[in-house]
Amino acid sequence: MESTVRLAKNILVTGGLGFIGSAFIRFLFREGLATGRVLNVDALTYAANPANLEGAVDPDRYRFVHGDIGEPGLVPGLIVEHAIDTIVHFAAETHVDRSILGPEAFIQTNVVGTFRLLEAVRAQPQVHFHHVSTDEVYGSLGPTGLFTEETPYDPRSPYSATKAASDHLVRAYAHTYGVSTTLSNCSNNYGPFQFPEKLVPLMILNMLERKPLPVYGDGTNVRDWLYVDDHAEAIWAILVGAARGSTYNVSGATERTNLALLRELMHIVAELTGAESADLERLITFVKDRPGHDQRYALDATRLRQDLAWSPRHDLASGLRNTVRWYLDHPGWVAATRSGTYREWIERNYETR
Ligand code: NAD
Ligand code: TYD
Repeated sequence: MESTVRLAKNILVTGGLGFIGSAFIRFLFREGLATGRVLNVDALTYAANPANLEGAVDPDRYRFVHGDIGEPGLVPGLIVEHAIDTIVHFAAETHVDRSILGPEAFIQTNVVGTFRLLEAVRAQPQVHFHHVSTDEVYGSLGPTGLFTEETPYDPRSPYSATKAASDHLVRAYAHTYGVSTTLSNCSNNYGPFQFPEKLVPLMILNMLERKPLPVYGDGTNVRDWLYVDDHAEAIWAILVGAARGSTYNVSGATERTNLALLRELMHIVAELTGAESADLERLITFVKDRPGHDQRYALDATRLRQDLAWSPRHDLASGLRNTVRWYLDHPGWVAATRSGTYREWIERNYETR
């Protein structure tokens, strides 16, 4: 690959109060990579929480803007006002089960929202656009094989269909208008600050509260797990080092069936809390399967390792242990996230557009 060094100085992050966007912003400040301004545009949906960034940013360099990426004039104005040179696009509706119950918000944010951002970059081509996407766009695998960057798209849920549409738009804008883009498709993330509708935090909290552990179908579906900070680091490597128009898969090659993952979590929860493993095991409850449930995701991330020398720092055991410990240590975050009480705090503390 040709070597590329892209300066990312004044960065506009979308969805930076969600799980991965906030991990990326914490990573920028922790690693001293935030050398200019970091602007965080977030619509404050149910999945956002400002506590995700508390104490983690330099207030002189960071600014929050409460706004919807689907609003046509918003991002073009911010690019000019803050001399933005880079957009890192996380904002999305992200939960497959919600997309099955109500796809419209997914079309609005994931497709129309991404389109608005691309239009903003088309008009201001000095801005580089990194699009954060998912392995789910490739469809579902049988027992063997891996998705590569060349695997044809075959999305099968409203969520993955809208992410696939957004990926296609990104490539179309790069090809047709010469917009500077990079794109990453990552496997399932887990770690601190994840909203407890997703498998890992939901199961941890249900174990701590001795609630049923709802396993969809027979629990044999396979996901490929990556600790969220490793994803943040991969995005930075791609953002500054990858060629214009390129795509990278991001994965730690860590496949588990849902039941196997649950058992690893049970083991850690039992060890850290003194709970009896047998009591946790009894909480497993097989429930009706998710409609259209994808059987297996698994990614080949050779290109990322070879071109940009990225590899994950966390294995599953250490990553899950950090995660369980974090949820044990942050009952206040869990309560605020579930109740949404932080919204009043937002109105008092942040500029609202
Ligand atoms: P999340 O649901 O935790 O957070 C999404 C954030 O986007 C929230 O803060 C929300 O308020 C904001 N948002 C939603 N609609 C918006 C809008 N219209 N305008 C502005 N902000 C809006 O999501 P996440 O898990 O952090 O995922 C971030 C990105 O990473 C998504 O694009 C997702 O598709 C992708 N991804 C996620 C995973 C995963 O395992 N979570 C894996 C691969 C890729
Ligand atoms: P999820 O965290 O929703 O991520 P995705 O569907 O995007 O991969 O789910 C991960 C896996 O866990 C998926 O196979 C569905 C399954 N699952 C359950 O069995 N029970 C649950 O309560 C949830 C939320 C997910």
